[in-house]
Amino acid sequence: MSSGLEAHITTIAVDPLLHGRHIGMKIMICLMDAAIERGGRTVSLEVRKSNAGAQAMYEQFAFQPVGVRRGYYIETGEDAVVMWVDGVNEPSYSTRLNGLREKVTGKAPGEPTPQA
Ligand SMILES: CC(C)(COP(=O)(O)OP(=O)(O)OC[C@H]1O[C@@H](n2cnc3c(N)ncnc32)[C@H](O)[C@@H]1OP(=O)(O)O)[C@@H](O)C(=O)NCCC(=O)NCCS
Repeated sequence: MSSGLEAHITTIAVDPLLHGRHIGMKIMICLMDAAIERGGRTVSLEVRKSNAGAQAMYEQFAFQPVGVRRGYYIETGEDAVVMWVDGVNEPSYSTRLNGLREKVTGKAPGEPTPQA
């Protein structure tokens, strides 16, 4: 996924039966952690123009639309929105990521998982 200072996310998908359980968010947190661990500074991706749900998820990770690739998806000819986020290696981004971690796990970073 990552090369040098820029990381690129190709595809993420969650089983439709399991949508809406923050699994996508957890995958994204793992990918952002991996990019940061490897020295990434910016992360980019493409998403279907019509895919408002995925775009809303990426916005929570501070991705912003920066361009359009016309007819990017060959099967349908749909445009892709190019989204990216800069400065993922900075402390302010770590704060954002920890906030999302807490949101999807209900725990602060480093807090142990309660025993059953
Ligand atoms: C996009 C995808 C990975 C999200 O996975 P998920 O586990 O269902 O998503 P989550 O439960 O983690 O939701 C994360 C956020 O995405 C947004 N979101 C997800 N589904 C949404 C929907 N149907 N409508 C609006 N927003 C949606 C919300 O902002 C949500 O955050 P919130 O619950 O705090 O409001 C999943 O819908 C999927 O696999 N889609 C098909 C493949 C795809 O589109 N991949 C992305 C291609 S780039």
